[in-house]
Amino acid sequence: MASGEGFPTSVAVVEEDAFTLSQIVRALRDVHSVTPYNSLGEFLVARPPDAFRHIVILGPSQAREAVLGDVSELVRAEPGTGALLVVAAPDATVLRLALRAGLDDAVPLERIGEDLLSAVDELDARLRAAVIEPSSVPAPVAEVTRGRVVSVFSPKGGVGRSVVAVNLAVSFASKTRRKVVLIDADPQFGDVSVMLRLSPAHTFVDAAAAGDRLDPTLLESLLTHDSRTGVYVLAAPTDPTTPAKITAKSVSVVLEVLRAMGALVVVDTPRVLDDVVVQFLSESDDIVYVVGMDIPSVKNARLGLQVLELVQIPLQRVLLVLNRADSRVQLSPRDVEKVLEMKLDVSLPSDALVPKSVNRGAPAVLEHSRFAGQIHEMADLLLSRASAEASS
Ligand SMILES: Nc1ncnc2c1ncn2[C@@H]1O[C@H](COP(=O)(O)OP(=O)(O)O)[C@@H](O)[C@H]1O
Ligand SMILES: [Mg+2]
Repeated sequence: MASGEGFPTSVAVVEEDAFTLSQIVRALRDVHSVTPYNSLGEFLVARPPDAFRHIVILGPSQAREAVLGDVSELVRAEPGTGALLVVAAPDATVLRLALRAGLDDAVPLERIGEDLLSAVDELDARLRAAVIEPSSVPAPVAEVTRGRVVSVFSPKGGVGRSVVAVNLAVSFASKTRRKVVLIDADPQFGDVSVMLRLSPAHTFVDAAAAGDRLDPTLLESLLTHDSRTGVYVLAAPTDPTTPAKITAKSVSVVLEVLRAMGALVVVDTPRVLDDVVVQFLSESDDIVYVVGMDIPSVKNARLGLQVLELVQIPLQRVLLVLNRADSRVQLSPRDVEKVLEMKLDVSLPSDALVPKSVNRGAPAVLEHSRFAGQIHEMADLLLSRASAEASS
């Protein structure tokens, strides 16, 4: 280690160009253990969740406003994270952007051999001084934060529930240290495993079969871990003839165990409003209500909201999300708000990346795009609701 004792600081280098990436990694290799990434999204998702300090070194290809904006948010939100920029050539505009983004230093590419190591060590020392080592933090009294449940719902199929649920869970996993569990509750079209390219060994049916014997250890063993995104999946039953085994009671038991574990739970629901789905929705802290940009979607959405009121689910829990909000149709987002008598909370753009990502089995939120940015915003909104409610 270059500086100090204890917990090592993780060092990540983000650069698109393979040669430049290897040059930067080489400049630090003998002193720090460095992980290379091709994009910031890749880093955000894959970074070690329990490392106490992170240093992010952005290569010349990353000197873009969108990337710097995200890094700026990251260093502001996490006092243990600092960032440096390697610039192709010293350029006043780039340096100003970097400073405004809260980056600590900028090193010209031609000087990395001489200057990068000392810049990293200086930043490491600053982070060490600013952050209390975990060993000196008093152990928390045995009080685990209660889990939280977010259901993604729409009374119409094909509007993007599964896409939203998967990407939201991946975004949560990149933003919090809580365990993120994605439940695929669609017994007929369990798309979650396909969208994450997982082959689950167990499903919700196994959890339901355990009845009251279900406890955190047993439930843990039924989850499928997606190491790429950090998300844990409770998969949908693979045999469409067995959904009857999932009962409203088993939903309650599963959610209670996950809450006791302090998990952040995202549920991808089927569109039928049967007693199983009503149970999920009644027990959810937030309902991400996805509406598409076509007349049947909006009409069904209005009916769906009336049903929620009928089964006494408070509409304050609803987060109204317009998917493919920029689709060229006769409707406008204003029209949708008028018909639903609710303000839209989030609008997701239509993006060709989305179907491609579904086919590749790699969630779209892993890469930079406007769609990804809006998903992250939705995640932030839900996390801030959660912390506001926790502290009230
Ligand atoms: N914002 C978007 N931009 C482009 N395509 C989308 C978007 N959201 C969803 N899709 C596509 O729409 C289809 C249906 O999405 P899906 O999440 O499976 O819907 P649901 O779960 O509501 O039935 C998928 O093929 C997906 O790729
Ligand atoms: Mg679906």
